[in-house]
Amino acid sequence: MPTFVTMKWTAQPTASHGASRALCQPTIQALKAAGLSEEQCSILKAREARGIKGWTYFPGEDAGLYARTIDVDARDAEGLHKLRQAGADLGKLLASDKVDHIHVDAGKGGDTVAEGVALNSYRYTDLLGKKASEAWTLKGIQVAHGSKDQADLSKAVHITRDLVNTPVWSLTAMDLADQAEKLGKDHGFQVTVLGKSQIESLKMGGLLAVNKGSIDPPRFIILEHKPGNASNDKPIVLVGKGVVYDTGGLSLKPSPYMEDMKCDMGGSAAVIGAFCAMASQGLNKHVIGLIPATDNRPGGNAVTPGDVITMMSGHTVEVLNTDAEGRLILADALHYAKKYQPSLVMDLATLTGAAARAIGRQASVAMGTASDTIMTDLVTSGLDCHERVVIFPFWDDYADLIKSEIADMKNIGGAEAGAVTAGKFLEHYTDYPYVHIDIAGPAFLDAPWCYFGKGATGVGVRLLMAFLNRQD
Ligand code: BES
Ligand code: MN
Ligand code: ZN
Repeated sequence: MPTFVTMKWTAQPTASHGASRALCQPTIQALKAAGLSEEQCSILKAREARGIKGWTYFPGEDAGLYARTIDVDARDAEGLHKLRQAGADLGKLLASDKVDHIHVDAGKGGDTVAEGVALNSYRYTDLLGKKASEAWTLKGIQVAHGSKDQADLSKAVHITRDLVNTPVWSLTAMDLADQAEKLGKDHGFQVTVLGKSQIESLKMGGLLAVNKGSIDPPRFIILEHKPGNASNDKPIVLVGKGVVYDTGGLSLKPSPYMEDMKCDMGGSAAVIGAFCAMASQGLNKHVIGLIPATDNRPGGNAVTPGDVITMMSGHTVEVLNTDAEGRLILADALHYAKKYQPSLVMDLATLTGAAARAIGRQASVAMGTASDTIMTDLVTSGLDCHERVVIFPFWDDYADLIKSEIADMKNIGGAEAGAVTAGKFLEHYTDYPYVHIDIAGPAFLDAPWCYFGKGATGVGVRLLMAFLNRQD
């Protein structure tokens, strides 16, 4: 049975408009069955014989046909990437040809080619205004031999990208919590939202300090997926940085560094997207999600460089740079996570420019105290879904760089190893196997790259799902 993936929340294919078709590795019989003439078949075979690998388009009466060969033998990470890239290339053609429904037949690789189509065809259309009526969107993908799990995953990535692309005016911390609640209802996971007074009662000093310059109150969002058939006794906790906008606070960012900072809730959006996927797919794991959410702004009473704050854990922190805010809110969430006695806690955060400078958009930076098995699983999962992860060192001497003379620690290290000192800061708030994933590089693109167009990539959703599916 072919699976139908609705792109976004829009229409199903209409009977009046035939879907175009894409065939990979087609046999002559398949091409003829799709309506190609003898001559068209030989054109394609001749192109292939000359080593031309791209898609060839054959216009049809009702709808056209895209055909190509992909030389992929193995089901290894490289092969999967090639299939996805072929899908992404097809997505570009569909956009320029303004095709709005596509039927993909690529045998066993169908889901992966379709994943590439879906990733490339994503558009953020919510705020197009008058342009919305002319804007192209792919409305549907049908996959021969496709799986529901892949459709659910692709939809979840779209949800995450929409959340990240939404500017702060439309997505405050309150809005993020409302969206999480709505998505929980739609997909079937539990959502509990703590408001400012509860956050105050819990003494989440990091979250409250970052929120102090803001007019909007903070939120602490708790997600839970607890299926009856969960194979784990102790939950896995996923923590996501939910800074809905990062101006830097009083340590104000220069405008060129600020303009994309609506993406600073990318970690939380990835966690929310992963919950959408795991609930839709019925993943057999007990998973908790924790999201501290606020904007970071300079305001009348904003936390100042030089202030000392007391965290939920009781640690004191000398805030020397209000732009190192992510670690302050995450620290409270990581401390809160202890109450679940988790087997593993992973956080996803657009935490440091240093991570992005070190390895670019090509990968996320990870580090932590979890076992080598967990770390290797994470790296392997990253290769499989092409959301690659590089493990950074986590030696204790890096923690020396965040020692303070007047408090338990300070919130910045020196000029060097900024991604690692941020991780070492967070480690103080953990007492369980822990992985910190800094997604600052790949979360948001200023130019098209790999399968993606500009803007949010939804990085983290496919990585987390690949990782969770590897755990027994
Ligand atoms: N949200 C930023 C990090 C960031 C940078 C994310 C680029 C995505 C793209 C974070 O809050 C930040 O400002 N980090 C500072 C830390 C520094 C003050 C120690 C940074 O990386 O410059
Ligand atoms: Mn910052
Ligand atoms: Zn930030």
